[in-house]
Amino acid sequence: MIFKKKVVKRILFALIFVLVVIQFIPVDRTNPPVIREPDWDSPKTRGFAVRACFDCHSNQTIWPIYAYIAPISWLVASDVSEAREKLNMSEWKPGDGKKAAKEFRIGDMPVIYYKWMHPKSWLNKKEKEEFLKGLIATFGEEKKEK
Ligand code: HEC
Repeated sequence: MIFKKKVVKRILFALIFVLVVIQFIPVDRTNPPVIREPDWDSPKTRGFAVRACFDCHSNQTIWPIYAYIAPISWLVASDVSEAREKLNMSEWKPGDGKKAAKEFRIGDMPVIYYKWMHPKSWLNKKEKEEFLKGLIATFGEEKKEK
């Protein structure tokens, strides 16, 4: 019994040690300057995008507290960097974002675990309809996809 307790203790200490050490691995949480935003069809559309998309798809990310705690911080940072690569609403070029309306309509965006953590991104039915229209008016829409 005593032996087992010792083992458990050692494993716990090792775990804590690892958790402490990984906090020192640098994570990129920069917000580069805003270069150009999309030509929003209305401030309202932009407002919805700020609530539901900007934390990942812009250079104006509000980094949550857990984005400072490894290993969760790694997941957040990698999501943001991947999302910015695909569509950055702070470094917009004409033609970008044609998939935005579809991703939003089919419910792929914002990603589900983001919604769990960010009630501000919850849009009601009417807001969703308005946002979808706004996304299409702003970014256009890719045809021939459901
Ligand atoms: C939690 C971060 C996060 C949020 C919030 C988020 N996205 Fe994304 N988005 C991603 C990531 C990561 C990818 C790249 C991986 C993928 O396609 O699933 C992505 C990809 C995309 C793509 C490219 C899809 C493709 O296949 O090229 C579009 C368009 C997009 N998102 C639109 C949106 C819109 C519109 C919103 C707001 C309604 C939004 N996203 C909110 C993280 C996010």
